[in-house]
Amino acid sequence: MKEYNIALYPGDGIGTEVTEEAVKVLRALERLYGNFKINLTEFDWSARYWRKTGKIVPDDYLDILKEFDAIMLGAVGHPALIPDHISLAPLIEIRQGFDQYVGLRPARLLPGITSPLAGKSFGDIDLIVVRENSEGEYVDLGGRFKVGKEDEVNVQTALHTRKGVERILRFGFELARKRGKHLTMATKSNILKYGMVFWDSVLADLSPEYSDVAVDKYHVDALTMNFVRWPEKYDVVVASNLFGDILSDLAGVITGSLGLAPSGCINPERDYPSLFEPVHGSAPDIAGRGIANPIAAIRSAAMMMDFLGESEAAERVEQAVIESLADGSVRTPDIGGSATTAEVGDDIAKRVERAKKRE
Ligand code: NAD
Ligand code: IPM
Ligand code: MN
Repeated sequence: MKEYNIALYPGDGIGTEVTEEAVKVLRALERLYGNFKINLTEFDWSARYWRKTGKIVPDDYLDILKEFDAIMLGAVGHPALIPDHISLAPLIEIRQGFDQYVGLRPARLLPGITSPLAGKSFGDIDLIVVRENSEGEYVDLGGRFKVGKEDEVNVQTALHTRKGVERILRFGFELARKRGKHLTMATKSNILKYGMVFWDSVLADLSPEYSDVAVDKYHVDALTMNFVRWPEKYDVVVASNLFGDILSDLAGVITGSLGLAPSGCINPERDYPSLFEPVHGSAPDIAGRGIANPIAAIRSAAMMMDFLGESEAAERVEQAVIESLADGSVRTPDIGGSATTAEVGDDIAKRVERAKKRE
């Protein structure tokens, strides 16, 4: 029997609520297939750990996580208790320390889901944001000088390496080859004349090697507008760390809700575990009420299974999500229903397992 060792890091707020439902679905997959076992080791890191120890994570948390096949994260952030730049630091350290340089964020308008954009229906939006996840605007490079004084100075520097930009663009090109053969790059070379002019030049250098892929680039401000007025034009969208962060929230909401949007922080070489998490955060505004949509977490778990080699199981989850959404009777409020987080998890887990009875 195959065994997968997974670190479960539910985190804060709705992170704990939605991961519980993702676990239900993983257990349903185990029962359905019967040929793999998912060993989950749960960590109470973030605010719960902070209350006990005054730290967000133990000092050796990267050594602990390194031993797992993958990491499943809910969401981190408890701004009422801990400043965000402290509670979110481990997530960024994991992405950078484990060289999870690909942030994969698919956005597909599913059947039965109403986009906030008028006139869009199932299949109209099917894009994937490929976010540079390891450097760019997210490097810890800067400083504060004369804090609180009138002549205070703050510096925050982005870092774009040739290796970093080239590998994410190549990943995007390879992915475009398997999808719609269209790659779009977000830029801002009209003003960011070092970093983004460099991104443009790497794109121009690599494009001839992928002549079967149609290539275009847009300044990120225009691209956000285009995501609203004609999202159907996009397929693979490669962006720097911060641009990809912003574009992926937008891609999530135009496909119905951030509560549906999954993601993977991938180390393609598999030198380190990859991490799977919803695009959304800990949503303090709805936390504790049992109304968060667990589908983003469930689909992130499916991306994890796919990455681990269980592509049929992953596809089974996606189908169960589609069936549940198309049926429409068990939905959380963000997509127009009145069901609870647990009811949606139960419905999808049940649909996953129902496949067994059909055989
Ligand atoms: P958020 O993504 O948590 O929430 C934005 C909005 O979307 C809120 O109105 C929220 O209720 C709604 N929403 C999000 N997920 C939902 C779901 N599953 N179902 C229904 N509605 C959902 O973003 P925010 O409010 O800017 O951030 C809250 C906290 O989370 C902050 O501490 C932030 O830093 C952190 N954060 C963490 C991650 C992460 O762990 N990867 C990502 C984004 C934000
Ligand atoms: C995300 C989040 C993170 C990011 C935050 C929590 C640091 O918004 O995963 O999209 O900006 O990458
Ligand atoms: Mn984000």
